[in-house]
Amino acid sequence: MKKLEVFGAAKLKGQIRISGSKNASLPILAATLLSDKKIFLTNLPKVKDIETMVLLLKSLGSTIEDNKKTLTINNNKQTKTFAAYNLVKTMRAGILVLGPLLAKFGKAKVSLPGGCAIGSRPVDIHLQALSKLGVKYKIIQGYVHANAPRGLVGANIKFPKISVGATENLIIAACLANGKTTLSNCAIEPEIKDLVNFLIKMKCNIKWTSKRTIKINGVNNLSETKYEVMPDRIEAGTYLIAAALTEGNLKIVGIDPKIISTEIDILKKVGAKIIKKKNEILIQGSKKIKNINIKTSPYPGFPTDLQAQMMVLLCKANKKSFIREEIFENRFMHVAELNRMGAKISVKGNKATIEGNIKFEAAELMATDLRASVSLILAALASKGKSIINRIYHLDRGYESIEKKLKKIGAKIRRIN
Ligand code: EPZ
Repeated sequence: MKKLEVFGAAKLKGQIRISGSKNASLPILAATLLSDKKIFLTNLPKVKDIETMVLLLKSLGSTIEDNKKTLTINNNKQTKTFAAYNLVKTMRAGILVLGPLLAKFGKAKVSLPGGCAIGSRPVDIHLQALSKLGVKYKIIQGYVHANAPRGLVGANIKFPKISVGATENLIIAACLANGKTTLSNCAIEPEIKDLVNFLIKMKCNIKWTSKRTIKINGVNNLSETKYEVMPDRIEAGTYLIAAALTEGNLKIVGIDPKIISTEIDILKKVGAKIIKKKNEILIQGSKKIKNINIKTSPYPGFPTDLQAQMMVLLCKANKKSFIREEIFENRFMHVAELNRMGAKISVKGNKATIEGNIKFEAAELMATDLRASVSLILAALASKGKSIINRIYHLDRGYESIEKKLKKIGAKIRRIN
């Protein structure tokens, strides 16, 4: 079933439980390659990217059992160090197996991720930093051929630019390096904190010494580990925006409001009423949505993964708004589709100007990337009439049972051929 049919306009009411974080699960799954002991992971989201990462680990020789609640991973017989293009091309986080494979085997041949709709997705920061740990690499026919003949050696590394993936790759690699590694100018997304918590549970020797600096002492022995992955803050943010957009009334359960405080503050500024509780958030959307100017930035700034969703909300604001996309070079692919629904958004470089007071019209639409596709659903929910969204395989990469969750809170949405 490749399309979604959405009838608007909807007012979303009820309770949503947040699934496990895709962007915490992916580096944690890659990091299991460091260990030859059993690892039990729970709360992994049932989304395509996780399936792809599991296939990638199996292609490397991991033994993996999935009893739906717990994924049991055993790498005691894992010996392969070749990560093939066909798996890495659809899920760019495949590059995250490079660090652990080099740490454990001193060599790896991993496909370059290749670009995607939102940008070219280079890995130069990953590679330059790994070479500081003693890795030699060559790029041959789209693959990174890397090796560290004398094993990885700890070093002091300052990232030239904040990169989530490079921070994750280097933290994982340094866990088995000889000696001490200091990484500075790290990304500090909650998903990276979750990865570090998992590694510490595996008995890695890691300590945050300041906001963006982490110290890692290489170890030899890791222990059998059970770990529950954190909830998905981007999924939570998406449903909060959906409530603000549809004058809805939602209870978002299973998320710590502290990790999405920037988003909550912004939604309050545009007029939503929000109550934060220990592990849940109550939101009441308001009739009047106020305009606001936003720029995306690394955590704790406003996340680029919520930019498309926020753009839909700002189309309904009382006046013009501006959004600056500072992270990816091409993350406005949703603009053309939103304009086909009656939005008036113009783009100049990395800046979008969003006219307010828009009445979305239902239309047939094309999803282009994960977060753009969910923004089309939001716009369809705010439109009168039937919208069809094509290429929803983008959506299935990162949102668990989205139409089931939306149906439960009053959306008229179904999957069709
Ligand atoms: C992670 O991607 C997330 N993916 C992205 O989520 C998220 O948008 C991004 O971080 C920013 O928060 C996962 O966690 C699996 P970066 P990543 O390295 O690691 C440039 C989603 O929708 N850069 O922080 O690839 C890069 O081109 C996805 O769930 C280099 O130039 O992001 C980008 O412009 C989309 N060289 C910027 O840095 C490098 O070696 C930030 O990228 C690496 C990155």
